[in-house]
Amino acid sequence: TNKIAIAIDGPAAAGKSTVAKKVARYLEYIYIDTGAMYRSLTYKALQKEIDLENENKLFELLKQTTIDLKQGKESQKVFLDGEDVTTDIRTDVVTNNVSVVAKHSSVRKEMVARQQFLAQKRQVVMDGRDIGTHVIPNAEVKIFLIASVEERALRRHKENIDKGYPSELEKLKKEIEKRDQLDSEREAAPLIKADDAIEIDTTSLSIDDVVDRILGVVEKVK
Ligand code: C5P
Repeated sequence: TNKIAIAIDGPAAAGKSTVAKKVARYLEYIYIDTGAMYRSLTYKALQKEIDLENENKLFELLKQTTIDLKQGKESQKVFLDGEDVTTDIRTDVVTNNVSVVAKHSSVRKEMVARQQFLAQKRQVVMDGRDIGTHVIPNAEVKIFLIASVEERALRRHKENIDKGYPSELEKLKKEIEKRDQLDSEREAAPLIKADDAIEIDTTSLSIDDVVDRILGVVEKVK
């Protein structure tokens, strides 16, 4: 069978990582969460109190930063300069600032180069915003996942409640809308569906439904 690359893009909280992980596990492929890379840089910049609008400083910072995505049996861990930041990069302050960091073209160029290196052997499922358009434009399978903002906010809300985190549905909705807007309207590699991507609206689908659909597409090309 062919070794392929699967690109999964889409707006915030559309279920990309949940689905990508399951597809990767099924195919015994590597899962690469590119959002975690932008989140890690954002976390480090916030800690160092770097102005997130300062593109040069962020680019310099990134050049001195290692980000490793380590895949365990059950979970993925993210290491920033050797330190486990898996949970630190999911806080609200990181989530609500990451799109500012991710808009800078020099930062993106370096991230894309790192991501392309990780994908060079194929057998990857990579999720993000620009995977099908910029990172792996020749990916054999491209998926664009969407869902209504109400549904996405509700899923996050339920997740938070399950984990025992405080959560406000309306606030989540506003934050997701804001992030989508920043990601879609930026100049450098904005969130957009690649012409050859297959769009799946997950609003009324279960996780397994979405996984099955993607595996169906994979079967045809593999
Ligand atoms: O996927 P996740 O929601 O963790 O991504 C966090 C943020 O990182 C996105 O809102 C976006 O600003 C940025 N990002 C990006 N390009 C990617 C992945 C993420 O710009 N390929």
